[in-house]
Amino acid sequence: MSRLVYVLNGPNLNLLGKRQPEIYGRETLADVERDCRAIAAELKLDIRFHQSNREYEIIDWIHEARETAGGIVINPGAFTHTSIAILDALNAFDGPIIECHISNVHKRESFRHHSYVSQVASGVIAGFGTQGYQLSLRRLARLLDDAAAQ
Ligand code: DQA
Repeated sequence: MSRLVYVLNGPNLNLLGKRQPEIYGRETLADVERDCRAIAAELKLDIRFHQSNREYEIIDWIHEARETAGGIVINPGAFTHTSIAILDALNAFDGPIIECHISNVHKRESFRHHSYVSQVASGVIAGFGTQGYQLSLRRLARLLDDAAAQ
C-alpha cells in the first residue's frame, strides 16, 4: 500500500493562528505543515498538504488521492457538518481516513456535534489542538503498517 498520505484542510483554516486563537491556538497552518512534514519523515510517510476554502477543490484532491495515496487525514472545517459531497468522495477512497479537528467540537455549539465525515472515518481526533494532526499521522502510519503486514 502506498505510503503517500494526503493532509487536507477545509475552509478558514488558512487563517489558523489569527482567527479565534482562544479556540484554535496561535500556531499557523504553515507551522502545522512543518510539524506534519517532520513527523512524516520519522514515520516514513510522504505527504501532500493542502488547504482550500472551496468544496470542489477538496473533492478533487480526494479523487487524486484515490489514484495515488494510501491514506487521508482530513480537517474539513465547517464542511464536516454540511457536506454530503465530501462524504461521497471519501466513500470512493479505499484506504484509512482520519478525521481531525483542532477544537473539541463536542464541547461547542450543537451544530458542530454532527459530522458527515465520521461515517467513513477510521477514527476521529478532536480537541488536541494542532497536535491532533501529528497524532492522526501516527495512527495512519500504524494502520498502513498493519495493512501491509496482512
Ligand atoms: C474545526 C471545527 C469546525 O466545527 C469548524 O467549522 C472549523 C474547524 C476544528 O478544527 O476544530 O473550521 O474543524
